[in-house]
Amino acid sequence: MDASETKPLALRLGHVSKVFGGVRALDDVSLDVREGEVHCLAGENGCGKSTIIKIVTGVYQPEPGAEIEIFGERREGISPVQSRARGIAVIWQDLALFPHMSVAENIAFDGLVGARPRLVRTARLRPAVEAVLTRLGVSLDLDAALNTLPIAQRQIVAIARALMGRARLVFMDEPTASLTQSETDRLLEIVRTLSAQGVAVVFVSHRLAEVLEISERVTVMRDGRIVGVFPTKGMTQARLGELMTGATLEHAVSARDRSGAPPVLDVSGLSRAGDFADIDLTVRAGEVVGLTGLIGAGRTELAHALIGMTQPDRGTIRLNGKPFRPASIRAAIRAGIAYVSEDRLSLGLIQPQSIADNTVISVLDRIRTPLGLLSERRKARIVDDWIAELAVKIGHREDAVSTLSGGNQQRVVLAKWLATEPTLLILDSPTVGVDVGARAGIFQIVRRLADQGLAILLISDEVSEVLFNADRVLHMAGGRIIESFDPHATSIAQAEARIYA
Ligand SMILES: Nc1ncnc2c1ncn2[C@@H]1O[C@H](COP(=O)(O)OP(=O)(O)O)[C@@H](O)[C@H]1O
Ligand SMILES: [Mg+2]
Repeated sequence: MDASETKPLALRLGHVSKVFGGVRALDDVSLDVREGEVHCLAGENGCGKSTIIKIVTGVYQPEPGAEIEIFGERREGISPVQSRARGIAVIWQDLALFPHMSVAENIAFDGLVGARPRLVRTARLRPAVEAVLTRLGVSLDLDAALNTLPIAQRQIVAIARALMGRARLVFMDEPTASLTQSETDRLLEIVRTLSAQGVAVVFVSHRLAEVLEISERVTVMRDGRIVGVFPTKGMTQARLGELMTGATLEHAVSARDRSGAPPVLDVSGLSRAGDFADIDLTVRAGEVVGLTGLIGAGRTELAHALIGMTQPDRGTIRLNGKPFRPASIRAAIRAGIAYVSEDRLSLGLIQPQSIADNTVISVLDRIRTPLGLLSERRKARIVDDWIAELAVKIGHREDAVSTLSGGNQQRVVLAKWLATEPTLLILDSPTVGVDVGARAGIFQIVRRLADQGLAILLISDEVSEVLFNADRVLHMAGGRIIESFDPHATSIAQAEARIYA
């Protein structure tokens, strides 16, 4: 028996149902969460995950007959005030914070309600606010207005606020949906910290890789029902995907043999101390090479060296047959490399600027008139061409890019890079922050670009993503490429067994 099984229950649900109109959103659901456990609640959009949270926090009342047990106390229903008083908190997707208040005021908010002037109370609560942030291992500017912070930091504010209210069971509803990979890593670190301090976390997500990385157990839902509760150890992305969808994943491999095409990128013995070593890698025209492995395997570091962000210590790179050692990103772009970074949301796009401005930002010299002014006509043509080519769903090209969904923002990032007319495209975690439904569309574009002759290096930790969409898959671990998988000859389970070994 696992030691954690002896921990007392923070939450137990039994026979919880919820009907909206004629729709049975939850059907006889049970769930148990132990104190200090990280428990994932996984399932496709619309399966009822948020509804469970809303019942536990008193936003909705369940149908009669439900059993709810919170820290050993049995109830049939619960109000929001009772839920909070018993140590339950939710980090909602929209975070429910106050954009114009300071970080300190947001964290201390629940203690600020009362007669005294707000400023006086905030000052008095400051040491407690600082203590909570220390406990989370983060530092934030307490006086900054919340709306000046990136989403990832606002999320930390929401978590800190929950801890100020002495939360012992925290629900996080799709917390990584709009985070970049590095922001996600930081959030997972905070979740581990909370768990180590005895706070139970119910982590709601449909991202398979992070479910497996963060949780001890995962409860899988489908269509309002519980499919089962599984220990994460021994679980694979493939199995989890099957449980969530109810379908056996078609091994829809699209790999083709491109070994006869000329190499676009040819890397030999490339090393950079502490990052990666002895990398041999060839990507041919029209070929999609997948690069997978655990987080921290050195994949992004390798990409950074290829685009001139860092300098390797040893080895050679040839691009289109010629020796290539980019001194800067600008030099790499000029030579024909495009890089869609995993940090799309913070680095790839300038959120408040228009779709059009974001698209042409890397080709401004091409749309200048002889007098050096920007040609609005040329700009509109480039933008409209790429928006049509990539089927980006937009209102108007002058709308702010922040108004688009994750999937459409990702297409704008692609448009921006494709406008540079690259010969090698490096895609680093291209579906992070992109809805499940929109992912297939991104990969159709990737395949079409390859068919047009572009060489593509596809970096992803979702094993199915590389096996289904690449022609060859390389496995990187500890900074080295240790083996290669043929997508036609390797199942997801086999590849995962090697990666998570
Ligand atoms: N307030 C509501 N009124 C009507 N239907 C709702 C309401 N809230 C959720 N639903 C429905 O219940 C189902 C489960 O929704 P939800 O819990 O939000 O799913 P998830 O969080 O897993 O994506 C969906 O079919 C959704 O349309
Ligand atoms: Mg939801």
